[in-house]
Amino acid sequence: MSNYETIEYDVLVIGAGGAGLRAAIEASAAGVKVGLVCKSLLGKAHTVMAEGGMAAAMGNVDDRDNWRVHFADTMRGGQYVNNWRMAELHAKEAPARVHDLEAWGAVFDRTKDGKILQRNFGGHRYPRLAHVGDRTGLELIRTLQDRGVHQGIGVHMEQTIVTLLKDGDRVSGALAYDRERGRFRIFKSKAVVVATGGLGRAYKITSNSWEGTGDGVSLAYHAGAELLDMEFIQFHPTGMVWPPSVMGLLVTEAVRGEGGVLRNKEGKRFMFDDIPDNYKSQTSTDPEEGWRYTQGDKSARRPPELLTRDHVARCIMREVKAGRGSPHGGVFLDIAWIKEKIANAPEHIKKKLPSMYHQFMQLANLDITKEPMEIGPTTHYAMGGIRVNGDSQMSNVPGLFAAGECAAGLNGANRLGGNSLSDLLVFGKRAGEYAAKYAKENPAVEISSDEVEAASREALAPFDRGAERGGSAEGPYQVQYELQDMMQALVGIVRREDEMTAALEGIGKLSKRAAEVAVYGHREYNPGWHTAIDLKHLLTVSEAITRSALERKESRGGHFREDYEAKDPAFGAVNMVVWKGPDGAMQLRREAIPEMPEELKQIIEEMK
Ligand code: FUM
Repeated sequence: MSNYETIEYDVLVIGAGGAGLRAAIEASAAGVKVGLVCKSLLGKAHTVMAEGGMAAAMGNVDDRDNWRVHFADTMRGGQYVNNWRMAELHAKEAPARVHDLEAWGAVFDRTKDGKILQRNFGGHRYPRLAHVGDRTGLELIRTLQDRGVHQGIGVHMEQTIVTLLKDGDRVSGALAYDRERGRFRIFKSKAVVVATGGLGRAYKITSNSWEGTGDGVSLAYHAGAELLDMEFIQFHPTGMVWPPSVMGLLVTEAVRGEGGVLRNKEGKRFMFDDIPDNYKSQTSTDPEEGWRYTQGDKSARRPPELLTRDHVARCIMREVKAGRGSPHGGVFLDIAWIKEKIANAPEHIKKKLPSMYHQFMQLANLDITKEPMEIGPTTHYAMGGIRVNGDSQMSNVPGLFAAGECAAGLNGANRLGGNSLSDLLVFGKRAGEYAAKYAKENPAVEISSDEVEAASREALAPFDRGAERGGSAEGPYQVQYELQDMMQALVGIVRREDEMTAALEGIGKLSKRAAEVAVYGHREYNPGWHTAIDLKHLLTVSEAITRSALERKESRGGHFREDYEAKDPAFGAVNMVVWKGPDGAMQLRREAIPEMPEELKQIIEEMK
């Protein structure tokens, strides 16, 4: 143990995206000592990829909006398997969390009368997304970082967490290695908040950065935490498909919110062909009315491009499969057409969507004010994750909290765009508050040297194999590549029993290979070693996704089964819970969703 530097905090936050930063700020404000560790550098988190805005029922653009409508929209978007308590808290508290940001210096776009401007997004009944052009996540991170750093939070960048440490049943901290020098470090802490974001890197085509390897979900699972509804993966309808080097990069939904339309290669707006029954009354099949909706006409109904993401992504896939796609395997997203409606359209587009303009100009040599973009679905978000208490965000492991994308519940089977930024603000704050409270109310923890030694031995094993077997041992990259390819092909947008069974078998084989991979060289910034460690997380979350998806024999939200195309009310009443059994094997059970209070049921009925 004397070989390891030990740093002690009351609350350790893992992850420096919006949820982690917000949790750290809140815990620190409660007067406890807070440390924040992240795998990359501050400012690099996937939060910046939530470009179009944060959903909060402030009613600045349409005063019919309020928390009740937002709650009902979130539940309907999530197809009613959401944690209703989280959906209630989120809808009630999101406006206050946006105002916190404003007070801390975030510079939002404004209405003519000086209020925070709100834009339309899929599945939200009214314009609800507070935004900063199409760089909202970036502004959110910048604001929270400034606030957090000035509050005296201890920041440790470029740290990979190898394992969470336990003192009996309680969490007691984490073992990390510093990516720059490859040295281990113990973070001892009475409470730990996991806020590591997503797991999109388990798939080949994803909007997630290299960090999105499901670390937090996997670390919590191996520490004894239950996972919830892992089958629900969001494929954002619009990612870049060309050139290949940027495949999957997000094209914000704000393009459609500002009037962008989807067309197939025949020029047809195919979204008119398939409008789900429960959205029919609010969706227009008149292009003129849809356009008026995007321009703020309160009497108009939404265009079908602003239906929920799961539905839009499947409609795009249908066009591609039917041979009506674009040259590079997507469809066309056209915002340039608004020149028929607006005199200064190019300037308007550049003002509303500056990042998209630059992204396509620089990466695809395409001017979106003149030509349509080629887009296709990209793995964007995990609705499932660590199971938490809706109020406190604590998992079933005492002292272990989770917030943001790696925590499950709020979004049910499908997340509405813009609910991620408000989620991480609302539940990041709650996690920080309750983690600080837990740290204050509980005695100090002990670190087990056996646990630390075992974890560091496991982490270094790939080097030992490299030294023993030389070049004859397999490296980590091929295993990672095959896993991503397989998850994309067999557990992707459209799923079926035989393919997922094959995937499960494949994951078993890849796990055996992953346990034998070797790396070479030294420990300083060794990308092979980093990938070897990521493999455990990628395989853990892939297995949880696949097992849960096999068990849910119906289609709902981000989980679509070709062999069970309809929703089944029996599955609408349950969540899937996954945990690590005593023998180390993954276990799964269906669990009834707790009864919703009458008051909330009534809101949903009224909004229908
Ligand atoms: O399309 C987007 O700007 C993404 C937003 C989100 O995922 O919430």
